[in-house]
Amino acid sequence: MQLQAHFDLSKLNTLGLKSSAELYTELHSITDVHALLNDHALKKITWRILGGGSNLVLPATVGGLTIRLANKGRTLIHEDADAWYVKAQAGEVWNEFVHWTLDNGYWGLENLSLIPGTVGAAPIQNIGAYGSEVKDTLFEVTCVDLENGELKAFSNSECRFSYRDSYFKQEGAGKYIIWEVTFRLPKQNKLRLEYGDIRKELERQGLEANPRNISKVVCEIRSSKLPNPEEIGNAGSFFKNPIVPAALRDQLLLKHPTLVSFPYADGMVKLAAGWLIDQAGWKGKKIGPVGMFEKQALVLVNHGGADANDVWTTATQVCADVKAQFGVELEPEPIRW
Ligand code: EPU
Repeated sequence: MQLQAHFDLSKLNTLGLKSSAELYTELHSITDVHALLNDHALKKITWRILGGGSNLVLPATVGGLTIRLANKGRTLIHEDADAWYVKAQAGEVWNEFVHWTLDNGYWGLENLSLIPGTVGAAPIQNIGAYGSEVKDTLFEVTCVDLENGELKAFSNSECRFSYRDSYFKQEGAGKYIIWEVTFRLPKQNKLRLEYGDIRKELERQGLEANPRNISKVVCEIRSSKLPNPEEIGNAGSFFKNPIVPAALRDQLLLKHPTLVSFPYADGMVKLAAGWLIDQAGWKGKKIGPVGMFEKQALVLVNHGGADANDVWTTATQVCADVKAQFGVELEPEPIRW
């Protein structure tokens, strides 16, 4: 385990914000974790865990110790008549893991192709896209308990998943390092074609509906709408789709007949935040270096040289304008350090 002072994090966050860690280290093995936990001087300072940095807003200086998980490996640990059980280490790149499962004929994660970030970060905010969420196939999360260094397994229900949320983003925040994640991929998997343009795109290209082709068109659809962080800094959707009572949606529909919403549960619906932001005039608009993407209003982009203050200036104005026009509160999706 090697410690580095004043470590540049600008390339380790997909928003590309200028940021530096007071102290930085990478963990490759459980031995590294135990070395860290046994270091009395380090125990006294704040620790933060960095995954792929794709869902974070970093300040100019990150105090304390920033820890990047660099443990690698993915394997089929068990197969029975009904399912494959595959395990991946937290430091694996999510999209590479998804492609590895498909290359080996284990399907079930195809709709989650091309989501940025790491395997270890995926359960924290229950990543989701095109009708699938990590919670649908996650079997178990193995964590290091930062109190005593012991490994602790969390079952799917213990992770308390909900829309872009989990125990690890709430009460469990800062208590554990997610070290490896196991998925149970059922062999009788139902293909999910209904969300977005998946079916339309398969038909247009004359492709058979199978997991590999779904992955292919999901990658194409995402690339056509979402900016590549290598080219333009962004953190995917910057706001969650707000969950509101169906009665409020009905009331809004009277004035805004094109309002987009999705069914949720118990008399609640999800409103498309992208639609709200677009209608509030924010698509392609910016303040200083930070704006909302011209092809997808839900994605906040760094046009170059932005810091966290620039991000919050734009985000706050977007929220205020949506609130003024629709009476709906937007909540940011990325985690603020
Ligand atoms: N819309 C607009 N204008 C815009 C953007 C969207 O009118 O500028 C409308 C669209 O026409 C559509 C609706 O809003 O009718 C919803 O948009 P879209 O289908 O693009 O999906 P989304 O709700 O904006 C969610 C996830 C994405 C995920 C996609 C596809 C959230 C916050 N976002 O976006 O997740 O990829 O569905 O499943 O739930 C992410 O979390 O980083 C992310 C990219």
